[in-house]
Amino acid sequence: MKILIIGGAGYIGSHVSRLFLDQGYDITVYDNLSSGCRENLFKEGEFIEGDILDYPFLLETMGKGFDALVHLAALKAAGESMTAPEKYSVNNICGTINILNAAVNSDIRRFIFSSSAAVYGEPDYLPIDENHPTRPENYYGFTKLEIERLLSWYDTLKGLKYASLRYFNAAGYDVDGRIRGMERNPANLLPVIMEVAAGKREKLKVFGNDFPTKDGTGVRDYIHVTDLASAHMKAFEYIQNTGESITVNLGSGEGLSVMEILETARSITGKPIPAEITGRRSGDPAELVASAQKARELLSWTAEFSDVETLVSSSWKIYSY
Ligand code: WQD
Repeated sequence: MKILIIGGAGYIGSHVSRLFLDQGYDITVYDNLSSGCRENLFKEGEFIEGDILDYPFLLETMGKGFDALVHLAALKAAGESMTAPEKYSVNNICGTINILNAAVNSDIRRFIFSSSAAVYGEPDYLPIDENHPTRPENYYGFTKLEIERLLSWYDTLKGLKYASLRYFNAAGYDVDGRIRGMERNPANLLPVIMEVAAGKREKLKVFGNDFPTKDGTGVRDYIHVTDLASAHMKAFEYIQNTGESITVNLGSGEGLSVMEILETARSITGKPIPAEITGRRSGDPAELVASAQKARELLSWTAEFSDVETLVSSSWKIYSY
C-alpha cells in the first residue's frame, strides 16, 4: 500500500509516518518544512519537498499513484489565527482545496484529515461527543470546520471517502525516542513545561487558577501522539473495509489539569520547574474532555499511551537529551 503523508515532517505527521512504516506501508512524505523538520524524516520513506499551495506540483506528485493520503499540513496557532486570518484562509482552506482537487484528479479516493476539537468551541456539555454543536471560537477552528464541509461535498460529488479526526490536545513523543524534532517556540503546555525543566525557559505561567475545575486550573484531554498515529491507521483500514466516511473525536476521555501535569513533570524530571499563576488567557475554556466512544466502537481504538506519566516521560526523553 502506498500512502502520501502531507505534512509528514511535522510533530504529529512524523509519528504517523513512523507507525505506517512500522506496519509495512510504503510512504512518501510531502512537506514544505515550514514547521516540520528534516530530522523527522525516515530513511525508509520517500521525501518530496513541496508546498500545498503549488497545485501543479501536488498533481505531479499524486500522479505517482497512491492508495490513500493523510493530510496534516496546516497552520495551527489558534491565537495567531485571530490576528492573521488571511494566512489561515490561504494555507488551511486554499491549500486543502488544492489537495482535494489534485486527489480526485489523480484517482485517490481515500483521505485521512487532521481536524480539531477547536471545531466545537465552548462546550455545552461534557464529555464532548461528535453530535455536540460546532461553534468554533477561533478562526483556526473555523478553517477546520470548513474543510470538513468540503470533504462531505467531495464525498457526495466525487466519491471521496474520508476520515475526519478531531484531535483534542496532542502531546508526548514516541516512547522509543525515535522522533527527536522539537517544535520551535512552542506555546502548548507540555512543551513549555519541558523547556522550563530543561533550563531553556525561566518559568511556566499558569493561565488562571480560579476555573470551576478540580484544582482551579484548566482541564484538557491530552492524547499521546502515538495514540493519534494508531487512530490514523485504524481510520484508513475502516474506510478501506467499509467504504464509509467518518468523523470522530480522538481523545483519551480523561481530563488532566495544568497542576496535575506540572506536579508529574516535577516528579519525573526531578527539576523544580518554577511556575507563576497569572491571569487567564483569553478564550481559554475551563474544561474540554472528549467522548471517545465513537472511535472505540467504530475503529476499535483506545488510547494506550495517554496516561500522565507516559505523556511526560516520553517528552522528557527528548527534551533532556
Ligand atoms: C492547555 C492548558 C492553558 C500554556 C490548543 C489549541 C487547540 C488545539 C490544541 C490544534 C490550558 C494552560 C498553557 C502555558 C498554561 N490545537 N497553559 N500555561 O489551548 O487547550 O489548545 O492546542 O488543534 O486548537 O487552541 O492547549 O497547550 O495551549 O493549553 O497554563 O504556558 O494549559 O490555559 O488550560 P489548548 P494549550
